[in-house]
Amino acid sequence: ALFPVILCGGAGSRLWPLSRELHPKPFIRLPDGQSLLQKAFLRAAGLTGTRQVITVTNRDLVFKIEDELNEVNQDNLAISLILEPSARNTAAAIASAALMVARKDPQALLLVLAADHLIENKVAFEEAVNQAKQLAEKGRLVTFGIKPNQPETGYGYIEYQENQVIRFVEKPDLPTAIEFVASERFLWNSGMFCFKAQTVLDELDKYAPEILDAVRETISHSKISQGVTNNNDFFHCELNADDFTRVPEESFDYAVMERTENAAVVPSDIGWSDIGSWQALGAIGQTDGSGNRLDGEVIMHDVHDCYIRSDNRLVGAVGVENLVIIDTPDALLVAHKERSQEVKHLFKQLKTAG
Ligand code: GDD
Ligand code: MG
Repeated sequence: ALFPVILCGGAGSRLWPLSRELHPKPFIRLPDGQSLLQKAFLRAAGLTGTRQVITVTNRDLVFKIEDELNEVNQDNLAISLILEPSARNTAAAIASAALMVARKDPQALLLVLAADHLIENKVAFEEAVNQAKQLAEKGRLVTFGIKPNQPETGYGYIEYQENQVIRFVEKPDLPTAIEFVASERFLWNSGMFCFKAQTVLDELDKYAPEILDAVRETISHSKISQGVTNNNDFFHCELNADDFTRVPEESFDYAVMERTENAAVVPSDIGWSDIGSWQALGAIGQTDGSGNRLDGEVIMHDVHDCYIRSDNRLVGAVGVENLVIIDTPDALLVAHKERSQEVKHLFKQLKTAG
């Protein structure tokens, strides 16, 4: 059996003001009307062997998540939820999913997916998952590697030879990333993983035992309910808040992937993108004859290469280029397109200001 696990957390600070604590990146809707989360769910639901999809997310988002998933769950697939009282990063989130799956079947395969990625080639994605499943059956921790096209410092880098991982480096500094990309021996880590529940539990036990033990302890004190939909089991696990706040906060990439000797990679040409910034979001979909991407009601004169989005009122622009202009009911963002990564600094200022 295959258990897709969608990780849905993280505020997506570079997409302020559209992305907020309570309206994070996975809920952003693309021009076709579907949110990134719904796309991730449909991608997971369509894989052969999927009998339920597990989503790990903050408990404050539960109703929103259920609404979003039910809206697209035409086949009535079983939906399991693991609800976190606070974010403890991806090592804890993955550990909780692996422990829940292992209760039923330690040999079952997990496919960890991010809720905020876009994958344009579905057929190639399914093919990559099939390759990953074979390596995972052999007890490997499988990553999906993407050919890099720029020295992005926000990603993990995988030095590889065919399916072997020589080295995994999470978020290198810029000079290192430039060197990695130039060498052509590295792939980006897509942030998706495939492994047996038992394999990842063994690796967590080896490299991050404090995290695994604390999550195991949490689950033993958590409220778990079970049910059946369409002959498929599902569960809801509400993680115990007192125990879970004691779980060390670390990403799975640092906690396990940089240290393990058991990693494999499937080089994947699947049209992957991490919608990390307004520039990336603006690059999706149709532009007008002047390179502008427009969402909502916008009027312009002599405007080039801008991304303008208005959620509820008319926006006008004259004589500007390379800008991102995002208007929402309670906040307006104006930024240079190439500097849209730095929007996260505004988010930080808002957080410290309370
Ligand atoms: N449930 C839950 N709880 N999900 C979380 C949490 C958490 O505490 N923290 C992050 N996530 C989710 C995010 O919503 C996202 O879907 C995924 O886990 C990855 O987290 P990010 O915070 O976006 O990680 P990153 O972008 O810095 O780095 C990861 O992704 C890159 C590719 O996009 C790493 O895996 C990198 O190596 C990789 O290149
Ligand atoms: Mg990310």
